[in-house]
Amino acid sequence: MTTPLRKAVIPAAGLGTRFLPATKAMPKEMLTVVDKPLIQYVVEEARAAGIEEFCIVTGRGKISLVDHFDVAYELEATLRERNKTAALEQLAAMSAKEGSIVTVRQQVPHGLGHAVWCARAFTAGEAFAVLLPDVLVMAETPCLAQLADVYRQTGGNVLAVEEVPREHTNRYGILDVASDDGRLVEVRGLVEKPKPEDAPSNLSIIGRYILVPEVMAALEAQERGAGGEIQLTDAMAKLIGKGPFHGLRYQGRQYDCGDKAGFIEAQIAFGLQRPELADAIRGFLKAYSGH
Ligand code: UTP
Repeated sequence: MTTPLRKAVIPAAGLGTRFLPATKAMPKEMLTVVDKPLIQYVVEEARAAGIEEFCIVTGRGKISLVDHFDVAYELEATLRERNKTAALEQLAAMSAKEGSIVTVRQQVPHGLGHAVWCARAFTAGEAFAVLLPDVLVMAETPCLAQLADVYRQTGGNVLAVEEVPREHTNRYGILDVASDDGRLVEVRGLVEKPKPEDAPSNLSIIGRYILVPEVMAALEAQERGAGGEIQLTDAMAKLIGKGPFHGLRYQGRQYDCGDKAGFIEAQIAFGLQRPELADAIRGFLKAYSGH
């Protein structure tokens, strides 16, 4: 049964080891690109796709992720006193409807699949989106909205996918393709981090998913996969053949902000989108281009 898409799970309980020491006392998902934390970008992307309810999967030391969406009384009062209308408007635009953000704890980061499973009471039998907050997607139509369009037509699971160089397949979840019309791909299999020689294709999953509720039952088994972690890819693979399952070559560009080089590229790309910063950034880029 195709249920309406109203809910999103945002896994944010990982240790962020690739970004140490920044992530020693601060969540990776609070790293800022230009002037917004990563988590805010994905919440905004989800809202643009019609998501009304959020579950942030957190762990120790991650409370600032949730505080970020609270009302900040003292700050707002001070801004009001100082007539800082633009800043106040910005804060008002990001405020969450009461009760629309819940959190669950993943006490031990056993892997992405385990993090999603921790939200099983929240999803409660409905289809839901998963957005990885360390992946930002720049797109004319927000990436999750593109997936939601497909979901409304096909139902079932829908994943955002893109081609990666074959030598990098061991970094991603990779699709085995049944059919492919150049945009929409029917999924026949999924493998997490295959070696290039074993990879069934070079189409990778990028961190935006729409999943049917049955994935929670598949995660229940808590089986460990690549890297000894409970992998979402393995649970999704168990759903193949039981209903529609598609990959969408989304329109846009993704930035892996869990990786230092990807994060720096995102600063430049998102900064260039800001009219007040673009000229300055172009100037720096020119100055450094000979180095
Ligand atoms: P990553 O693998 O990119 O994040 O997971 P990580 O494990 O924090 O980073 P590294 O590899 O150690 O540097 C993608 C998303 O899934 C969350 C992470 O917080 C991140 O937002 N995640 C991952 C969990 O919530 N729980 C986990 O057990 C693993």
